[in-house]
Amino acid sequence: MGVNVRGRSFLTLLDYTPDEIRYLLGLSAEFKRLKRAGIDHSSLKGKQVVLLFEKTSTRTRCAFEVAARDLGMGVTFLDPGSSQMGKKESLADTAKVLGRMYDGIEYRGYKQSVVEDLAKYSGVPVWNGLTDDFHPTQMLADILTVQEEFGDVRGRKLTFFGDARNNVANSLLVICSKLGMKFCACAPEELQPKKELVDRCRRVAEETGAEITLTADIEEGIRDCDVVYTDIWVSMGEPDEIWEKRINLLKPYQVNKELMAKAKPTAIFMHCLPSYHDRLTTTGEEIYQKFGLPAMEVTDDVFLGTQARQFDEAENRMHSIKAVMYATLK
Ligand code: CP
Ligand code: NVA
Repeated sequence: MGVNVRGRSFLTLLDYTPDEIRYLLGLSAEFKRLKRAGIDHSSLKGKQVVLLFEKTSTRTRCAFEVAARDLGMGVTFLDPGSSQMGKKESLADTAKVLGRMYDGIEYRGYKQSVVEDLAKYSGVPVWNGLTDDFHPTQMLADILTVQEEFGDVRGRKLTFFGDARNNVANSLLVICSKLGMKFCACAPEELQPKKELVDRCRRVAEETGAEITLTADIEEGIRDCDVVYTDIWVSMGEPDEIWEKRINLLKPYQVNKELMAKAKPTAIFMHCLPSYHDRLTTTGEEIYQKFGLPAMEVTDDVFLGTQARQFDEAENRMHSIKAVMYATLK
């Protein structure tokens, strides 16, 4: 049976079937091939998309902009300082206006309800470019990267070390469940994903053969691991005061050489980026001065080592975002 996601929004991935996700992954790989071969794929000429960013971004913004242009589309970028949204105009009114002018809307911001409402009121496909709860476009890039390494992803064990209830970890839980993978959240109890999401994903896992493990035990997390994944310990939108507590909780979960040595010898390291792996950022240096940590969620030896795949992931953001826009707008 053919897969068709035309006209759909892309908000959490929970409403996409495994076949629909595999279709988007296949399309991502095809767009990567076309881009690498220099073959024109501007098949959405005449369409227009708008990108709304209430949080900062490098990868997601650039991926959407380049992907839209490669597809032949026009792009408008709006940040909170340059639009009326929220301050002088309600979300619903903004969505209705944008839906009259644009064929699709990307949103990055805080509450998940905002991206859901944009989809509800605009009448055009809305793509979630990260909220406090989910980061679904990151997932296609991540799984494409895992596929490029291992082929079939079914049965592969991906362990997330760190704040396992953040947007990236939640979305990994969702996609691994959908694709029959072994997902392990390795984190202290208070940083484990919410029960409601876990229960929902466990029901998906019953259908797909996926396995979900929540553990605070690092040895259990790293055992037989194919993909060692981490993310920053404090996400955008969280207060600076939380750093000390988070460092104390997550220091044992740092991805370093000793941890990587306990994974499968063929294991890869992944990170959505940006990352605090050295002192070459203002926050990295501040944390070093305050707490004496030269690296946080991952050490430089792993980040710069042969098992690291984070820059392949970053490139794949563009190919997979192109696939999402194409499939929902074509
Ligand atoms: N991974 C990711 O979303 O990166 P940006 O915050 O730079 O968009
Ligand atoms: N969890 C991180 C992901 C950044 C891409 C954040 O929300 O800041």
